[in-house]
Amino acid sequence: MSVRILAIESSCDDTGAAVLVDGKILSNHIANQSVHEQYGGVIPELASRAHQENIVPVVDIALRAAGVKQEELSAIAFTQSPGLIGSLLVGSCFAKSMAMALNIPLIGVHHMQAHVLANFIDDPKPDFPFLCLTVSGGHTQIVLCESPLQMRVIGETLDDAAGEAFDKSAKLLGLPYPGGPLIDKYAKEGDATRFKFPEPRIPDLNFSFSGLKTAILYFIQENQQKDPAFISQHLPDICASIQQRIVSILLNKLVKASQETGIRDIAIAGGVSANSGLRSALATYGAKHNWRTFIPRFEYCTDNAGMIAITAYYKYLAGEFVSLDAVPSARA
Ligand code: KG4
Ligand code: ZN
Repeated sequence: MSVRILAIESSCDDTGAAVLVDGKILSNHIANQSVHEQYGGVIPELASRAHQENIVPVVDIALRAAGVKQEELSAIAFTQSPGLIGSLLVGSCFAKSMAMALNIPLIGVHHMQAHVLANFIDDPKPDFPFLCLTVSGGHTQIVLCESPLQMRVIGETLDDAAGEAFDKSAKLLGLPYPGGPLIDKYAKEGDATRFKFPEPRIPDLNFSFSGLKTAILYFIQENQQKDPAFISQHLPDICASIQQRIVSILLNKLVKASQETGIRDIAIAGGVSANSGLRSALATYGAKHNWRTFIPRFEYCTDNAGMIAITAYYKYLAGEFVSLDAVPSARA
């Protein structure tokens, strides 16, 4: 009997649906919410409303694209935590209703675990144990993975997440939200050695990005006072220098984690793993430290339902289901 799972992701501002059959993703559809751009960040109330509008068409498209009928499904999966509670409620209510109507099991998925397991959608897959640097808009973690469903956070940010560091830097430069991909774009034409930003001294495997944000703020204020056109004249070099620093903070901790654990299968995941500077630096560091490196395909780096589907598949095989009274949670 085939295992056919419909997965729904609605933790933040993207509504996603994916269909998996026997461990393979057959469709992965996402509706992005452009409504937040004008506010410079995600407005939770607007995100919930947009999920409500998008969820039925997105699920319909995902099922059609996979050629799977509702009545053929084995289970429905949804993101249970963490995320914006109003957004999570839309996805979980939809998933529950569908599971109840079809009389099939329901699977609750942890969003951060799913980011890690995005590395198991395509081949080659990492061997266990492996380390995963999970970098998104809300989290920055080094995760030690012992099996698909057994993972431990061994380092994390003490303040801002890496994605926030990108987005807040972009905001200071007058770029629209989310600024991470724009910094990446401008950085491609810039000189990363042009400006120097500080690397924080944080013990253990933890991260901090708030000092960098303050340094960038002062750097911009100082230079703009001298020359109001400073940002526009040097945007690519500023972006390249900021990106280079964020990437080196991340990778230096990953080197430390690899040395301390002796693990050399190294993966990255989460929205910031779409960053071209991080992707190429991972290859460079990997060659130097003799790592096998893994990065999900671009569409599985930022929020997507494919990663929820693959996690749900492992949970299905392990018999890990939730009941219809399961509630989502904003925190882990
Ligand atoms: O994983 P994700 O899609 O959503 C969360 O779970 O937070 O991550 C979103 C974050 C945002 O901060 C966004 O700016 C960042 O990932 N991001 C990037 C790039 N693409 C997305 N940051 C830097 N460079 C990129 N190319
Ligand atoms: Zn995410």
